[in-house]
Amino acid sequence: MIGAAGPILIRGGRVIDPASQTDEVADVLVADGVIRAVGRSLPDPEGGETVDAGGLVVCPGFVDLHCHLREPGFEDKETISTGTAAAAAGGFTTVCAMPNTDPPMDNAATINFVLGKAASEGSVRVLPIGCVTRGSAGRELADMAEMAEAGAVAFSDDGHPVSDDNLIRQALTYASGLGLPVIEHCEQLSLAAGGQINEGWVATRLGVRGMPAVAEEQMAARDIALAELTGGWVHLAHVSTAGTAGLVRRAKERGVRVTAEVTPHHLTLTEQAVLGDPGSGSPFDPLTPGAYSTYAKVNPPLRREEDVLAMVDALAEGVIDVIATDHAPHSQMDKLCTLDEAAFGISVLETALGSAMSLVNKGAISLGRVIEALTVRPAAILGDRAPAGLGTLAGGAPADLAIIDPGREWTVDPDEFMSKGRNTPLAGTRLTGRVVATIFAGRIVRRA
Ligand code: DOR
Repeated sequence: MIGAAGPILIRGGRVIDPASQTDEVADVLVADGVIRAVGRSLPDPEGGETVDAGGLVVCPGFVDLHCHLREPGFEDKETISTGTAAAAAGGFTTVCAMPNTDPPMDNAATINFVLGKAASEGSVRVLPIGCVTRGSAGRELADMAEMAEAGAVAFSDDGHPVSDDNLIRQALTYASGLGLPVIEHCEQLSLAAGGQINEGWVATRLGVRGMPAVAEEQMAARDIALAELTGGWVHLAHVSTAGTAGLVRRAKERGVRVTAEVTPHHLTLTEQAVLGDPGSGSPFDPLTPGAYSTYAKVNPPLRREEDVLAMVDALAEGVIDVIATDHAPHSQMDKLCTLDEAAFGISVLETALGSAMSLVNKGAISLGRVIEALTVRPAAILGDRAPAGLGTLAGGAPADLAIIDPGREWTVDPDEFMSKGRNTPLAGTRLTGRVVATIFAGRIVRRA
């Protein structure tokens, strides 16, 4: 925490609160950890701080439904302390932690451990996601009710698909009884196993096995069909193909309980990033034929231009509900190696807004929709698992805010990340739009 606990008046910013369809220049007063007022010419608070937000955007703090904080077990990659500091730097005030830790979060004890650590060491709110299956091993259901009771907000074996059809059917049925979604990592392993990047010309040129789009689409189709059968709620993680977006669109039209997320990288980068764009920070010379960047190796893989465009359209239309980071920090050891050996994943929390702003700046999507997809939409998916008013600037809502300079140009420098994960294909990239301050529970937790 770098701010005192007293009242804060954020003066004269462009206040964007999609929940109330607000987009106007106003002041925001926060005190005692909650939003007190949004209005014109509010008086400076007694004994508090006034922040000049002229020319800046003021909006609810971002809510990330999908990140990897790595603790317990992989503290060399990230900890709850560093991961939540990275979240704060990126404007996120609530992050949902995936359970592919060691031990995996498949019981109440690990859920409680994460909640306890977050309370004592976290800069922002952490909501844990429990495993679908014991040990994420895909063989038997984990103790979902026990985890829900302890505070799990959803269930997922992210990183691994739940390949057994009957098990995922049972999980959807059971989770719906608890009112929670099953977050699915859609990957048909018999089609994708051994794949390193998207199946296509880049994989051919590099001589590595690819992961075809249909490996995602087949699993997404299965999950949608089983959600329809059971009445359960499936949330599709990191949608990456035009085909999957089409499946979600049609399922929603039929009234299936399906929600979906897209990552900043699947909205902005194609498979060509694996070739190591100049300025990508790749340790491999991008001008050498056959050069590659392990920093762009991620699962699901970066796809074709057509897919990226379809992701943006699906997000703009609301077919894809939210932007989620899939922040997947890894150590340099995990990335300074061959494409085959490298871990899947990108460190995203600190570049998410800048990536999304690149779409806004070229007119592909509105700033209001981006903020909605980062705030009230993910908060609505969390429902009553989240504090009332999360993702909005309603009176009495948690005083969680992001302050953005939409015109600030900056160069991505992973050495400046709060995350331990320096693994980004965006190193050296110029972005326009940056989070300049983050307020969590009424305190300033980040000032850039
Ligand atoms: O690229 C990825 N990295 N995709 C996943 O699904 C898991 C994640 C990780 O945990 O590193």
